[in-house]
Amino acid sequence: MEIKWTPALKIGHDVIDSQHIELFSLFDEFVDGCAKGRGKASVLELYQSLKEYIEKHFRDEEALMASSGYPGLEKQKREHKNFQRQVSELGNTISSQGVALIELVQMNKLLVNWLVNHVQDVDQKFGEYLRETASGE
Ligand SMILES: [Fe+2]
Repeated sequence: MEIKWTPALKIGHDVIDSQHIELFSLFDEFVDGCAKGRGKASVLELYQSLKEYIEKHFRDEEALMASSGYPGLEKQKREHKNFQRQVSELGNTISSQGVALIELVQMNKLLVNWLVNHVQDVDQKFGEYLRETASGE
């Protein structure tokens, strides 16, 4: 499973788009590490980088939404939190049960699907909002 950001996922804000690109790439490295059966320590390292970047990205994105007065902020916060909880569960599973787990593939798939849908739909709406408010000024 290759996780690739494509221009169709662009929301039109340079910082957010480049963070999404980085996020997809870290996700890809992590999933690839799992798939190639790298050791637990090495997979956990990839997981940690991914997790930290998710936190940073959500923080930045929510700050930008707050400063631009975006009305969809609360919905975004809820979705982000939900996702982060699932990401934490994934980390716990790896720590306690290792990486040679068939469920891991399924968990990764769910998270990747979530991310693609979220960027495509919920973040895209924020991009539209930014364009609308910018043209109104
Ligand atoms: Fe978001």
